[in-house]
Amino acid sequence: MSGRRKLILGNWKMHFTVKQAVNFAGKLAAKPIPEGVTVGIAPNSLALSEVSTLVQKTGLKVVAQNAYFQDEGAFTGEISMPMLRGIAQYVLVGHSERRHVFREVNDLVKLKVAAAVRSGITPVLCVGETLVERQHFHTKHVITDQLLTGLSNLTAEEVAKVVVAYEPVWAISNGKNFSKHKAATPEDARVAQAVIRHNIAELYGEDVAKKVRILYGGSSNAENASAFLQVDGIDGLLPGGASLSVATFWPIVEQAGNLAPKKIEVKNEAK
Ligand code: PGA
Repeated sequence: MSGRRKLILGNWKMHFTVKQAVNFAGKLAAKPIPEGVTVGIAPNSLALSEVSTLVQKTGLKVVAQNAYFQDEGAFTGEISMPMLRGIAQYVLVGHSERRHVFREVNDLVKLKVAAAVRSGITPVLCVGETLVERQHFHTKHVITDQLLTGLSNLTAEEVAKVVVAYEPVWAISNGKNFSKHKAATPEDARVAQAVIRHNIAELYGEDVAKKVRILYGGSSNAENASAFLQVDGIDGLLPGGASLSVATFWPIVEQAGNLAPKKIEVKNEAK
C-alpha cells in the first residue's frame, strides 16, 4: 500500500446549468466522505464560483476543467489561473477533450501546468494515447512525451505535488455510455502508471516519483472502480459520465474508502 490518499475527481464536463450544478453539489456535500479519500467535483466555469461557495465548509474540493496560462489580458473566452484562486483547489490540464477537440498541444499544456502551480492550484496533468497510437504501439512514447513536456517548467519539489491522470483516449465515453463503453483494463492502468513513475523517478528522483498521485482517467463506474483502485500505484479515478448523479458517483467514492490506506504517509495534497 502506497500511503497516498485516494483521490476521486468527478468531471462534469459541459453539463448542468448553474442552478443544477449548485443543486447537485448540495446533494454530494451532504454525503460523508470516507476516511483517506479526497473527493473533488469539476463544474463548468460558469458554475465554479457558486459551487465553491456552497462546498466551502464541507470536505469537497473544487476542480476547474480548464484555464489559460496567461494571468490576464486580451484572451477572449478564457479564464486564468489567478482567477481560480480561492475558488478551485485543482485544475484539469490537457484533458483529452482539450487536446483532441480543442487542439491543445503539449507546449500549451506545459505553460498551463506551470501557471497553475504559480497560482497555488494543483494541476491534474492528463496524458494518454489515441486508439491509432495504441494500435501502432506508441502508447509508452506518447505518455512519456506528454508527461515530460507537461512537467518541464517545474522544479522537482513542484512535480511532487502534481496529479497525473492516465486517460487512454479510446477508453473515454461520450458521457452517456460510460457503463457500456470499451474500458481499459487494470493491467493497462498498471503499465501506464509504471511508465509515468519510472520517467518521474529518472528525471526528478525516486522520492518525487513516490509522492506523485496518479489517477486512472478513462471511463470508470461502480462496476470497475475497485479493480482500478486496487492497482498498485493507481491513487484514484477521474470519472466523467458516472460523476453526473449521486447514484453512479458515490459508490465509486465508497469503494475508494474501502481501499484507502489506514495510515496516510504522503501529505502533499492541495489544501
Ligand atoms: P467518462 O470520462 O468517465 O465519461 O468516460 C472520463 C474522462 O473524460 O476522464
